[in-house]
Amino acid sequence: MQNKMFRFSDRFEELDFDHGETDLAQSLRSVHEAGNTVFDLTQSNPTTADFTYATDTILSAIASESAMEYNPDSAGLLSAREAIAAYYGDRGWRCNADQLILTSGTSEAYAFLFKLLCNPEEQVLVPAPGYPLFDFVAMVEKVRVESYPLSEEAGRWSIDLATLEELIGPKTRAIIVVQPNNPTGNVATHSEIDAIFRMAAENNLAVIVDEVFSDYCFAPSRFRPFKSENALIFTLNGFSKLLGLPQMKLAWIRIDGAASLIKEARERLEVIADTFLSVNTPIQVGAPALLAGRAQIQKQIQDRIHTNLAALRGMLRGGAEFGFKEPDGGWYAVLEFSDALSDEKFALSALREKQVYIHPGRMFGLDGGCRQVVSLLTPVDEFRQGIERLNELARMQLNK
Ligand SMILES: Cc1ncc(COP(=O)(O)O)c(C=O)c1O
Repeated sequence: MQNKMFRFSDRFEELDFDHGETDLAQSLRSVHEAGNTVFDLTQSNPTTADFTYATDTILSAIASESAMEYNPDSAGLLSAREAIAAYYGDRGWRCNADQLILTSGTSEAYAFLFKLLCNPEEQVLVPAPGYPLFDFVAMVEKVRVESYPLSEEAGRWSIDLATLEELIGPKTRAIIVVQPNNPTGNVATHSEIDAIFRMAAENNLAVIVDEVFSDYCFAPSRFRPFKSENALIFTLNGFSKLLGLPQMKLAWIRIDGAASLIKEARERLEVIADTFLSVNTPIQVGAPALLAGRAQIQKQIQDRIHTNLAALRGMLRGGAEFGFKEPDGGWYAVLEFSDALSDEKFALSALREKQVYIHPGRMFGLDGGCRQVVSLLTPVDEFRQGIERLNELARMQLNK
């Protein structure tokens, strides 16, 4: 092959394939190679975080004989969609199986929605700080991502609505809201939701609501689903977080809102889904039983999160070197260390000197100060010891 003549698509132009490992990844490898125990406070894969799964029940749900028959439906098997609709019913939010399109993951759901809504180079607005997933999905879909800021006031995060509105331009197609947001844990307030609907209706934008952490809200009464007659709304969720089963690959898009647009949106999403038929049959067959058993794993995850949050609060009362804003929900906490420290350097020395692995806030767009993101899914002893070590390190670095 004439390599000089060969060219790949320009999707990957912004990636630096020659850059190699980051300093943090290199240090993590060295600590492992030296045989040292790592206090890994980034653990957010529930399947390896010491939870007890109902393995037999889960495996027998997907091992049904009906999984041997291929009976494709572009929206997903009706029995699976009905079970998901019933899950919403249990949460007090009426849903019809016709409103649902199944996908293999929430990430794929985003890709489908970007194809549905955006021509190349058109734009979606995403929250910052936020989870870096959007940049990659947008990159492969040739869509532009523009961040709208969350602001910090009175000890909580809120959506900077004025800046969000200023960012809406002729190429904007959708506003994405993550609730609770990853990693800040804030849930949109009623007035934020109303303002977003007004902006969406006035500018003909869709609203995409990522609810993957919605079963992990600490004050469920604060949580309100996005419902409107005026805007087109796509709500995303899936088994990855809802059942702690990311490997099972089942998620969905729920279509709501302006009645005149729902049918057209659904028809087009079905064309996209039918092109790939990416959701495997065993997980769709197992969906009703798996959803019915969700309390078994959700209770463990909720207990773990509450215990770890209580440990953070306990350390604060004892005079810790960090603060944190109480999240409304989700699997993460953002620790705020003294501004005299730099977040990337602190994360590196945490690993090299204290064997504690954390993610510096910058990875999530938490610019300024020394903020570190920790996963509340970390097993409790490891979490407590890791946080104590971070506290010692901060004390040492601040010469206290
Ligand atoms: C907010 C948010 N949305 C979506 C995803 C992707 O989930 P899935 O495994 O369903 O693709 C994640 C993964 O961590 C996430 O944090």
